[in-house]
Amino acid sequence: MDMNKDLIFQMNKFVGDLHVFKTKLHNFHWNLVGEQFFVIHPMLDGIMGEVDTQIDAVAERLLMKNERPFASLEVYLKHTVINEIESKAYNGKEVVTCMHEDFKLLLSEINIIIKIAEDVDDQETLALLTDAAALYQKHIWMFGAWLA
Ligand SMILES: [Fe+2]
Repeated sequence: MDMNKDLIFQMNKFVGDLHVFKTKLHNFHWNLVGEQFFVIHPMLDGIMGEVDTQIDAVAERLLMKNERPFASLEVYLKHTVINEIESKAYNGKEVVTCMHEDFKLLLSEINIIIKIAEDVDDQETLALLTDAAALYQKHIWMFGAWLA
């Protein structure tokens, strides 16, 4: 595949990953049970806010590149690497373990985009995704510390 086309596809795939991840965060926000509730429930609001900002930033970057962002749930689900989960009670450890794994998956998706953006010398996309990668590395460290 042409590298520019590949970059567009991977960016779109990431928009979908973030949408599915946000749905999963809502699931955890609502279905969380146990002693950690008052810490993790509001923490998830903060992460959902970040994810919303990233969705919009990547989608608008696609528009700046004269492309159309993926914008349907059907297309997101077709390409995402994030697994959906059922609506049931989850304790704090289950939530943090699952998010830790999803952050690692999302970081690997970001790293694919970064590599291609470097190859095609798209500095602005590179800057945007490098910032996102740093944020995900921070979450992976913090969630890993919580689980240790
Ligand atoms: Fe809420």
